[in-house]
Amino acid sequence: MKTRKNDSSSFPAVRLRRLRKSPAIRDLLQETRLSVKDLIAPVFVQEGLKKPEGIGSMPDIKRFPLSGLADEVEKISSLGIRGIILFGIPSEKDTRATSAFDDKGIVQKSVETLRKQFGDKMAIITDVCLCQYTTHGHCGIIANGKIDNDSSIDTLAKVAVSHARAGADIVAPSAMMDGQVQAIRKALDEDGQTDVAIMGYSAKQASPLYAPFRDAAHSTPEFGDRRTYQMPFSNSREAMREIETDIEEGADIVMIKPAIPYLDLIYKASKITNLPICAYSVSGEYALIKAAAMEGWVDENSVMTEFLTAIKRAGADMMITYHATKMAHLLNE
Ligand code: PBG
Ligand code: ZN
Repeated sequence: MKTRKNDSSSFPAVRLRRLRKSPAIRDLLQETRLSVKDLIAPVFVQEGLKKPEGIGSMPDIKRFPLSGLADEVEKISSLGIRGIILFGIPSEKDTRATSAFDDKGIVQKSVETLRKQFGDKMAIITDVCLCQYTTHGHCGIIANGKIDNDSSIDTLAKVAVSHARAGADIVAPSAMMDGQVQAIRKALDEDGQTDVAIMGYSAKQASPLYAPFRDAAHSTPEFGDRRTYQMPFSNSREAMREIETDIEEGADIVMIKPAIPYLDLIYKASKITNLPICAYSVSGEYALIKAAAMEGWVDENSVMTEFLTAIKRAGADMMITYHATKMAHLLNE
């Protein structure tokens, strides 16, 4: 047993309990504090929807029609949350993901509406991917039976530019195509969108934890899986290469996803870069907590607080979480 130095060698002079004695002392000593300003709320908007619709595998989360979007974002904003990330669900899909870069597409219209209503009060981030917009549900364009990297990044760049023109502050490419950040930066700059930032979904693991999201966004691949482009969750050096590559390509923020299983990556990333780090606590992480809470097996507020604190403690500067509004309510109490 390790003894602590004092007059008598076995006497425990160091008593960490002294600093845990009361709520007041614990508050003074708290190292990691969550703030509503750390939180980014995901918002699903679906073309052609009449009224908000629940999502079976994500209790309390809804898909919104364009007409209900501003009210929802007003609710988010009134809690003090400063950022949202928008996911669009189009009514038209094709093999080229045409509706993804349509200037009158669902995300483009949403961004325009929100920008008009909220000005600079809310940071608008848009997810830039093709999987909701392709008939096959993959994140890229298919050529010769494969997801073709280089034609996919050309399309992703068009999507990003159309989001920027609509008024997005930050575009977040999530397709995991090589060179996507560079292609988007170049296209944005050529379009004069030099002030639009890029949040790279840098280390996005091929994770079964995205299943509820794919229900919500109608983006389950029709064949195969995403393992030829999303990275293997077994590889941490590869994750760091993904992050380094996005930084070299001009990302302004790097993201790690999912969050809770990959605290090691968040921590490592925070040691190798001074770029801001975002962690995305994904749909499956939310669903796991929710399901256990609904059974009465865990307390939702406590687990939510613990997980988000752990993610921040590991080194995340901001968190995308489906618990954003619930966490904000609790922090505001
Ligand atoms: C689109 C996208 C996905 C998520 C974010 N953007 C799904 C996927 O890659 O299949 C997952 C988010 C979540 O599970 O909450 N590429
Ligand atoms: Zn995708």
